[in-house]
Amino acid sequence: MVEFGYDFGLVGLGVMGRNFILNVADNGFSAFGHDLDEIKVESLITEGRDSEKINASSNVETFTNSLSVPRKILLLVPAGTIVDTVIESLLPHLDKGDILIDSGNSFFTDTNRREEYLKSKGIHFFGAGISGGARGARLGPSIMPGGSEEAYEEVQPIFEAVAAKFNGEPCVAYLGPKSAGNYVKMVHNGIEYGLMQLTSEIYDILKKLGGFSNAELHEIFKKWNEGRLQSYLVEITSEILKKEDEHANGYLIDKILDKAKQKGTGKWTSQNAMDLGIPIPSIDIAVSMREVSAMKEEREKASGLYKSLGTEKVGKDELEKAAEEALYFGFVLTYAQGFHQLTEASMEYGYEFEPSTIARIWRAGCIIRAGLLEEIATAYSKNKKLSHLLLDMSFVNKIESTLQSARKIISAAIKNGIPLPGHTNSLTYFDAFRSKKLPLNLIQAQRDYFGSHTYERIDREGIFHTEWEDLK
Ligand code: 6PG
Repeated sequence: MVEFGYDFGLVGLGVMGRNFILNVADNGFSAFGHDLDEIKVESLITEGRDSEKINASSNVETFTNSLSVPRKILLLVPAGTIVDTVIESLLPHLDKGDILIDSGNSFFTDTNRREEYLKSKGIHFFGAGISGGARGARLGPSIMPGGSEEAYEEVQPIFEAVAAKFNGEPCVAYLGPKSAGNYVKMVHNGIEYGLMQLTSEIYDILKKLGGFSNAELHEIFKKWNEGRLQSYLVEITSEILKKEDEHANGYLIDKILDKAKQKGTGKWTSQNAMDLGIPIPSIDIAVSMREVSAMKEEREKASGLYKSLGTEKVGKDELEKAAEEALYFGFVLTYAQGFHQLTEASMEYGYEFEPSTIARIWRAGCIIRAGLLEEIATAYSKNKKLSHLLLDMSFVNKIESTLQSARKIISAAIKNGIPLPGHTNSLTYFDAFRSKKLPLNLIQAQRDYFGSHTYERIDREGIFHTEWEDLK
């Protein structure tokens, strides 16, 4: 057992923390864990008993004294005030030059505040979003660090060793100053919400209009995962659909209550996009649908009050093909909006993002990993000034070849009263995005009419106001 001078410290020995520390040790670094909960400490010591490289303590001083300096301490605790409490508990035991890394889903402005506060005490603090769930933490997550580059370089060898690998490349890279890492993780989660909503809608329409059984749906998603829709979320959807219920006959999916919870990161993505003035309707609606799902009681009452439309069946082969194309279209639109938000946030907050780097570190380990990210990375590395993914020629082709199916699926859903809001918002966003002329000239006229808000003209320079009403 190493007595002192451990390479790496980790606070928060929940499932994610425990798995991450075991991953660090597997990669040859000695790691010391800390949690106030004795049971968690003991369980890590027991789990790591065959390793020379793992130790843990519930005593903060023992923990900090065991680490080599500068100390490299990762916090994996729930976002919010707990992060501040943990920082305060560590502070008296830290030295100037030590490094604290917050890998929870902290709100990016909190990271900026903490960085400033700790800088005044000589401590480096940065956010490094981690994605991949418990399994990712154990076997290789995608890691999104930002903040002080100098501090990042101290932990870079550890992060590169533990991160997921895509064709041998680690899914971690320094992303930019300040809260860049937490910001990227937040948008990752917004995209995650969007893709999950789109997938659930396709599952619904295949069931209701195609009459596909769960076994058939399992096969369909499995097949799709071998094609251009290859992604973690499509893969786990296929696995979920074949899972039989342990407690009763039938499939587990049919027994799960249709109320989806949320911890807030998707909502933050939408709220911040509003602040930036960036439209991300495919993500917004995914947040709203979790809220609609929570209105179970009202939905049940309303379903008895309004006549159901009855669904007309559509040919299975035709529907399956169109659904695959529509889902691909929706995925592209969702990533496009997420990357647009990252591009704008980079300018607004000075993050200096390289979108191609972000796409590359999302290719493995994280929840939104998908084959498509390789093509997104290529688009952004080919053109460093690409303002929107939909303006890249290879994406024009991808959209053109799937657009008609998106329209077909959405029309069928609307006709049959099946809600497909993620797909509808994606298509509407696309149709607006590619419109040279929108009817917003009328909105400008109305604003000027009732509030003298002025308008611009298409045929001459300047700001104009018209006296629309004859007030005499
Ligand atoms: C990840 C996930 C992870 C968490 C989500 C769940 O990348 O590993 O995004 O961070 O599972 O935040 O979010 P909701 O509870 O809001 O669905």
